[in-house]
Amino acid sequence: MMEYHPPLGSRDVLRLDFNENTLACSPKVREALSRISTGDLTRYPQREPVEAIVAAHLGLEPEQVALTNGVDEAIHVLFETFLDEGDELLLPVPTYTMYEVYASGTDARVVPVLAADDLQFPLEQLLTAITPKTKIIAIANPNSPSGTVATREQIIELARRAPHALLLVDEAYFHFYGETVMDLIGALPNLIVARTFSKAYGLAGLRVGLLVGSVDLMRWVRRVLSPYSVNLLALACLPAALEDEAYLNWYVSEVRAARAEFEAALDAAGVRRWPSQANFILTEIGPQHAEFARLMHEAGVLVRDRSSDPGCDGRVRMTIGTREQMRQAIAALNQTLATLRASKEAQ
Ligand SMILES: Cc1ncc(COP(=O)(O)O)c(C=O)c1O
Repeated sequence: MMEYHPPLGSRDVLRLDFNENTLACSPKVREALSRISTGDLTRYPQREPVEAIVAAHLGLEPEQVALTNGVDEAIHVLFETFLDEGDELLLPVPTYTMYEVYASGTDARVVPVLAADDLQFPLEQLLTAITPKTKIIAIANPNSPSGTVATREQIIELARRAPHALLLVDEAYFHFYGETVMDLIGALPNLIVARTFSKAYGLAGLRVGLLVGSVDLMRWVRRVLSPYSVNLLALACLPAALEDEAYLNWYVSEVRAARAEFEAALDAAGVRRWPSQANFILTEIGPQHAEFARLMHEAGVLVRDRSSDPGCDGRVRMTIGTREQMRQAIAALNQTLATLRASKEAQ
């Protein structure tokens, strides 16, 4: 199995490297946390009542929803449940690293489909790559690290053209985009949708994600899913996070406004970028990508060098936070670019 060690390290600066919420979760979550007693902590967590609350919130049946220890566990469990020897996992790349990591722990074969330089969703190439062995097609929508999206029509086409396979649509960044295919769960029997509370909701440290699919598919997933993988603190906080829509909406609109400002700053600085529907932007820094990331860190801003991703040489991804934070990031960016330019001219 592939090893994966997230490059976390010391992060007491502006964190624009892991696409988290860069500020805070809802204060209602804090209140829910403070209501938990020491006695509560002696109990095993009960997932089902909270799954029912989440299902009602999403307009689904509880049997269609499974809460997981982050989307990472959702991916892991889904792959463990369905991928056997001889199966193929179809992956448009570049994409979220953990699909390949978890697939490497199964006996299935990963079939990567490289997007073109514009990093648009490679629908035609994916359709061509479907074989009778295709068991799962996994797409992140919006995708990471590109921020680009597959349209609803493209997703429907893909699901229909591979009726023997599962189509996982990972909507980790859904809130920043606003478009979903969750409403198609009944209509497309092979569709599975994942969502996380790590991004817009600001609960990455609690580890909560969810999988949504037909009752039939979810029955298989529940066999593999550990009954206690979502802990009691996370379950106690989830209803409060869901209820506080005002906070969620505020954070999302703040990020969208900051994204527009940051895009304008990148354009002004002459840095190529890809159009993003998420809380991050992929940029083309070029051969100085590693030095760029180092200098940004020195200036108090962590960014993510994605150069080793397929087709991403020289590209760096930056998370979008609040407008105030991104003004700090813009200052660091301009300073870093000026330093790099000066060192290039001196050579
Ligand atoms: C596309 C995508 N899916 C899932 C995750 C992980 O989500 P979670 O924190 O719920 O495990 C990430 C995190 O970066 C992501 O980019």
